[in-house]
Amino acid sequence: MTRFPRAIRAVLGLTFLSTALAFTPGFPYGTEKVRGVNLGGWLVLEPWITPSLFDNTGNSAIVDEWTFGQLQSHSTALAALTTHWNTWITESDFAAIAAAGLNHVRLPIGYWAFEVGPGEPYIQGQLPYLTKAITWATNNNLKLIIDLHGAPGSQNGFDNSGHKVSTPGWASNNTNVQRTDAIIKTIANMVKDNSANVPIIAPLNEPAGFDGSQILTVTKQYWFDSYGNIRFPFGSSQQSNTVELIHDAFQPLSFWDGVLTFPDHEGVAMDTHIYTIFSVPEEQMTQAEHISTVCAKQDELSSFDLWVIVGEWTPGNYFHHRCYISYDDYLVAFTDCAKYLNGRGIGSRYDGSFAGSTRVGSCTGLTGSASSFSSSYKTFLRQFWEAQVISYEKGQGWIQWTWKAENADEWSYQAGLANGWIPKDPTALKFPDICD
Ligand SMILES: *[C@@H]1O[C@H](CO)[C@@H](O)[C@H](O)[C@H]1NC(C)=O
Repeated sequence: MTRFPRAIRAVLGLTFLSTALAFTPGFPYGTEKVRGVNLGGWLVLEPWITPSLFDNTGNSAIVDEWTFGQLQSHSTALAALTTHWNTWITESDFAAIAAAGLNHVRLPIGYWAFEVGPGEPYIQGQLPYLTKAITWATNNNLKLIIDLHGAPGSQNGFDNSGHKVSTPGWASNNTNVQRTDAIIKTIANMVKDNSANVPIIAPLNEPAGFDGSQILTVTKQYWFDSYGNIRFPFGSSQQSNTVELIHDAFQPLSFWDGVLTFPDHEGVAMDTHIYTIFSVPEEQMTQAEHISTVCAKQDELSSFDLWVIVGEWTPGNYFHHRCYISYDDYLVAFTDCAKYLNGRGIGSRYDGSFAGSTRVGSCTGLTGSASSFSSSYKTFLRQFWEAQVISYEKGQGWIQWTWKAENADEWSYQAGLANGWIPKDPTALKFPDICD
């Protein structure tokens, strides 16, 4: 088939879908680049983003939001969460994000904000903050992506799905999938008349496609079902302007060739997360290798049939990379120096404090406060940031993980702005030829 540019295909789409109203997304995807940050660690807890919230429990068995609700009294947990929800992200953060020249925020939220099943210890109370976030995005001219980050049973077993488990139970249990469908319907209905401010819904973050074909089959069907729920909340004869943002489930984009593509489908974007993956195990990449690895992504990002947004990435993942082939390997792909990055109470492979790992070097000066970073490290962070921005804008753009972190400035957009490795205008590059 001839590959028309997206804008022309959208126009042609009117002739195919003669009974439907024109599809006009709330942001000109395909024309303008997505530039944004994630609001990580706010409505879904992550121990490495807010270690103090976990340390303050005095209970080392509290390692995720599930155990946060399970292993302390409801009133204690709710009080801590309420303080956190009221303070971690406020409207001033939205103003600062807009002032930094960004146009999107991606907001992770768990299924438990919407409903909690019998025996599930999650504490509710997040929904009013989702409403506030939509208002704050609107006030600051930012587009908000609602990202379902945790599904019933857990789609990946990561602590950031809400429940850290070795055998995730979402895809293997149809009740869990149906509960997730119902939540996506609820979200789609909440925002169906507000696509100007909430132009996209991401129906599920990071399903663990590396676990094998069963979860991939379930995920693919779930993307189709979510398409109906997100794109047709008014009924089958009228499409919405809300875009569905599917995730690649850690597969190469080619795995998804032909899935939800035009002209049978319209208004679908692909989310891919790039935490510099490198195929040589147990070996430290040089700085140049990190940069060339992300620069080499450009063709894949620009040639795929759906709009591709790199919805998570960081300049801070400098050390120790392998392919995503198992849960442990997924963790290794991160900058594994940040406190609790591998889970609460678990050390880092880089400095050898992770059980069974071989020390590569000291983490001092590589994570924590930017005041401990050398000027050459900060220059590297700038170069790596620019190489990623240049490369991801060959696709539809990027959303950095994450806006702020208590004790890991290398991951924080806010700290990057304050300390100079992220420019105040994201188009003002110092190293525009870094990928050439
Ligand atoms: C499937 O998940 C539901 C909760 O959504 C649970 O009640 C049920 O026991 C699970 N079924 C199996 C077979 O694990």
